[in-house]
Amino acid sequence: MLLHVPNVLSKPEVSDFRRLLDAAHWADGRATTGVQGAQVKHNLQLAADNPVALKLGNRISKALLKHPLFVSAALPLRMLEPMFNRYEGGGHYGLHVDGAVMHQRDSVHPLRSDVSLTLFLTEPDEYDGGELVVVDTYGTHEAKLPAGDLMVYPSTSLHRVEPVTRGVRICSFFWAQSMVRLDWQRTMLFELDQTIQKLRARLGDDPEILALTSHYHNLLRCWMEV
Ligand code: NI
Repeated sequence: MLLHVPNVLSKPEVSDFRRLLDAAHWADGRATTGVQGAQVKHNLQLAADNPVALKLGNRISKALLKHPLFVSAALPLRMLEPMFNRYEGGGHYGLHVDGAVMHQRDSVHPLRSDVSLTLFLTEPDEYDGGELVVVDTYGTHEAKLPAGDLMVYPSTSLHRVEPVTRGVRICSFFWAQSMVRLDWQRTMLFELDQTIQKLRARLGDDPEILALTSHYHNLLRCWMEV
């Protein structure tokens, strides 16, 4: 499932993020990547222990866990601390798959990447290129979202970032381990949950909606791992 989650950060919050990020120290992005990724990655990143990254990452995590659309789609069990990248002057990231095993700072417990997350922090008209391109079984999809909006896509997908040929593209990127490992199961649960919510808004409390809600939770009970 590819999903656009709007308004994770408000525009004033994005401005605040940008002020802090513009003054931060950016390093070569290849430092955090495996062998295959390093060959195709050309961008800058904040170090994982950079105080600005830690502070802003914490704000993103808190905002996301309160965002009902994100929670419904990702069913997060654990999230990696958000990191930050910057593309300019032709910077790009060629086709790659995200590693299955991610390591959290200050934790010995690895995290399985199920859901990949890209939060856009620059507006689409601030740069040319820089589209996030995700390849899945239904073809190739491009995203270039407003600042403050999030793209959710399966970590099993191949994806790339097109060269940024004008301006600067700044994003936060991170991963979640979901309570539901498989994308098709998460997608079914998400669609069922969204349908139930729309029916409830239209019909109020209703015995059939209660029955559907019961099916949702019983499916989740079958598939969730914690
Ligand atoms: Ni990636």
